[in-house]
Amino acid sequence: MTCCHNYFATTEGGEEAFSVDVSAITYGAGCLAEAGEQARALGIGRIALFTDKRLATTEHVEKVKKSLSAAGVDYALYDEVKVEPTDVSFQAATRFAAEAKVDGFISVGGGSVMDTAKAASLYTTYPADFLAYVNAPVGEGRPVPGPLKPHIACPTTAGTGSECTGVTVFDLLSMKAKTGIASRMLRPALALIDPLTTHTLPKNVIACSAFDVLSHALESYTAMPFTRRARSKTPGERPMSQGANPWSDLGCREALRLAGEFMVRAVNDPADHEAREQLMWASTLAGIAFGNSGVHVPHGMAYAVAGLVKDYQPEGYPGDEPIIPHGMSVIVNAPSVFRNTACACPERHLDGAKYLGADMRGAGNDDAGEVLGGRIVELMKASGIPNGVGGVGYGAGDIGALIEGTLPQQRLLKNAPMEVGAEQLKTMFEGALSYW
Ligand SMILES: [Fe+2]
Repeated sequence: MTCCHNYFATTEGGEEAFSVDVSAITYGAGCLAEAGEQARALGIGRIALFTDKRLATTEHVEKVKKSLSAAGVDYALYDEVKVEPTDVSFQAATRFAAEAKVDGFISVGGGSVMDTAKAASLYTTYPADFLAYVNAPVGEGRPVPGPLKPHIACPTTAGTGSECTGVTVFDLLSMKAKTGIASRMLRPALALIDPLTTHTLPKNVIACSAFDVLSHALESYTAMPFTRRARSKTPGERPMSQGANPWSDLGCREALRLAGEFMVRAVNDPADHEAREQLMWASTLAGIAFGNSGVHVPHGMAYAVAGLVKDYQPEGYPGDEPIIPHGMSVIVNAPSVFRNTACACPERHLDGAKYLGADMRGAGNDDAGEVLGGRIVELMKASGIPNGVGGVGYGAGDIGALIEGTLPQQRLLKNAPMEVGAEQLKTMFEGALSYW
């Protein structure tokens, strides 16, 4: 506890308060059947049901449709959501929602589906040039003017935590870069989380999602303490990426413990429903946590790793376009990042390793980066994740482009526990080329 206590020591001109914003959550096996009643309770009469082509024919979407109909909620189905959405796919979804004249949204799917519903709700409620609300410096970073229509987010993967956050991420095709929109207004009105949805997911989808959870928790836990950020002039100016704080720590610790215990089982045994359901709970906890603290460098580097994809195609993902799934694009960077950030807050890196189940015998502060990085690598190997950035198609000659693609992600880089610029990113990418 001493480290945690000291970690939040006040600093000259630094923030003294932190904010906690959480979506309303309903969690439990079979709760998708509540979708209709929950929509009615939110005052929704006609709802846009967002999903993707693969999920549209599953029992999960069927259950939601039936529930909506039974509750007398009219729905308009949109199953054209693109996995790893783009500005073009966001705008297509927005046109659909505008024409459908709905007063609410329900998304059934992974991060891509939930993020697309957030964007469609934003641009139909407050129409503007597409780049208006997009994070600066890529976009204008204009604040979202007010509340959006109610959105019920129903995750079907245990990963992104998007059901609990005010962030939406997409590829801006003209710049070949991943970017996003961040606002408390984007946070869904209700997260309806049914762990039964994870039972049928392919191995690789479980692995990528689980590593996204793991990294959300580790990055939140090792983020810059909120007390080191300059004090906000007004409560409204306090960013969601406010840094590590005592609230987000709670979710991170338990999410890491669950990921360390259940991840490998969930990936390697499709019949291990207990393990898959425990990962869904870990995902929820990590989502609540990082939605109030923010992630940092592994996610910042992931924007470039995913955005500059060459010809990598993972098993278990639909379509024939090259793609590096989000959780994979994050975790290939993570061991190298934590080996480099450990010097900034070694106790927190040691804690992270301990919660993940690492062998801590004889480990001291000087070993923190190696112990944590080594434990992540162990889990990657046991889950069939590619061997670092090199394993998804990059070589030493690509590092310059990867650094250029990461530097615009200042919201994330500034949330790191130490200063991270081009020089540090070079070291981190070099260390991430291969791990074994
Ligand atoms: Fe993530």
